[in-house]
Amino acid sequence: MHSLDAFAQDKLDALDRHHLRRSLTETLREDGIWVERNGRRLLSFSCNDYLNLTQHPAVKAAAAEALATYGAGSGASRLVTGNHPLYAALEARLAAIKQAEAAVVFGSGYLANAGIIPVLIGSDGLIVIDEVAHACLYAGSQLSRGKIVTFRHNDVAHARELLEKHRGGHDHALIVTDGVFSMDGDLAPLEELLSLGEAHDAWLMSDDAHGLGVVGGGRGSSFAGNAHAPVPLQMGTLSKAIGAYGGYLCASAPVIELMRNRARTLVYSTGLPPAIIAGAIAALDVIEHEPDYAALPVKKAKTFTQAVGLADAVSPIVPILIGGEEDALAASELLVEEGFLAAAIRPPTVPAGTARLRLTFTARHPDEEIARLAQIVRERIVVRHP
Ligand SMILES: Cc1ncc(COP(=O)(O)O)c(C=O)c1O
Repeated sequence: MHSLDAFAQDKLDALDRHHLRRSLTETLREDGIWVERNGRRLLSFSCNDYLNLTQHPAVKAAAAEALATYGAGSGASRLVTGNHPLYAALEARLAAIKQAEAAVVFGSGYLANAGIIPVLIGSDGLIVIDEVAHACLYAGSQLSRGKIVTFRHNDVAHARELLEKHRGGHDHALIVTDGVFSMDGDLAPLEELLSLGEAHDAWLMSDDAHGLGVVGGGRGSSFAGNAHAPVPLQMGTLSKAIGAYGGYLCASAPVIELMRNRARTLVYSTGLPPAIIAGAIAALDVIEHEPDYAALPVKKAKTFTQAVGLADAVSPIVPILIGGEEDALAASELLVEEGFLAAAIRPPTVPAGTARLRLTFTARHPDEEIARLAQIVRERIVVRHP
């Protein structure tokens, strides 16, 4: 066999041996919560479309109108001819919702993180990052070529220890965390991290991919709870509650202007299709005008956690910790038999030994189905408590 194919096959065999092989399964999502997979209709607890806005008539109409008027693609990088006028409207809306001076939109959340961090941190810099922060925050951190140190999940005292030890030898420092953790559903202690950052001249960056639209009255994790944590670098995505596509950063005017000049994933990547931008603007309208609707995903998640006897949900994401990869896959299969789609999440997405079902709740999940799911989880799945 050609050495390239042999290399690939060896890697695949190793994944198989460890029950870590993944596959792309065709999935039809026609109404947002019900999906069709392998000929079966399943109620999905695995989509990040928390407000079901991918299917909202106003969002689809806005996207369809922009598609008909402006065409399918943007044709070039934003800095060349891909900067459609809709961008300015979307960025103004994002800055307003986050109470920031300015915003810049990237091609995706992954591209945003891969672009933002290397602009701020170079080879003399320091990055202090939560151990379970999203993979693309790690990707951006590695691209920066700065020193990366990880603190125990949500452990501010450990982050402080690391800053005390390492801050001195570096020109700039960045504290990096998810705002809502994508695989755990918990919130970062942003106010405490902000004070820590101020004490050590370390800039705080939060990734609010799972916060915008659904926590903090729709404004995101910096607004959760009673106080507002004025995080200077609020990144997020338009692909989850917003139901569209794209990533963004909200920050001060000079920081955003610097990103427009220096973030390589913005400068050297094609602008978003105008239809996507128009859809995202229409989605923000829904979120701003219908706060009770935006509160539903967390409310439904909480109903579920109370029914199962888990800690109260604080976001639409609820992990059901299983432990072993095979057991997690078996639990996911059991739920498919009952008509539910709940993906098993395995390493390296989560730490070894913490394979889980990751459930996501949306505004339109029927209460009686949530109750049925809770009963099955309670009675038939061995849940490991952290
Ligand atoms: C916390 C977090 N950040 C960033 C991303 C990447 O965003 P996008 O899907 O827009 O690339 C995701 C999910 O995909 C995420 O969960």
